[in-house]
Amino acid sequence: MPIVNVTLPGGREIQLDAVAGNTFMRTAVDAATEGIIGECGGAAMCGTCHVLVHPEWLDRLPAMSQNENDMLDCTAAPRQPQSRLGCQLQITHVLDGLQLTLPERQR
Ligand code: FES
Repeated sequence: MPIVNVTLPGGREIQLDAVAGNTFMRTAVDAATEGIIGECGGAAMCGTCHVLVHPEWLDRLPAMSQNENDMLDCTAAPRQPQSRLGCQLQITHVLDGLQLTLPERQR
C-alpha cells in the first residue's frame, strides 16, 4: 500500500495508507482527514481538495488538465506553484512516500 505523508492545517503530520489507484482526495476522505472536503466528489469542480505538493515530488505527478488548472484559480486558500487538486492525484506505487501539505482552509 502506498503511503502518503500529510501535514495537516496547524502543522500536525500524519501518514495515510492509500489503496493504489484511488485518488488522494478519496483516500483522505475515507480516513476522515481534517482539511480535505471533496465536496464535488472528485469532478474538479469545487476546489475543496486543494493540496500543496512537496517540491521534490512535483515532477513525478501526472500532468495537470485544463479543468484542474482552472479550478486551482478558485480555491479558498491562494494558489501556490506547488498546488494541485487531491481528486486529480491518483496514488500509485510510484508515489509511495508522497509528501503533501494541506492549506489552512478549503472554504
Ligand atoms: S473534490 Fe472537488 S475539486 Fe477535488
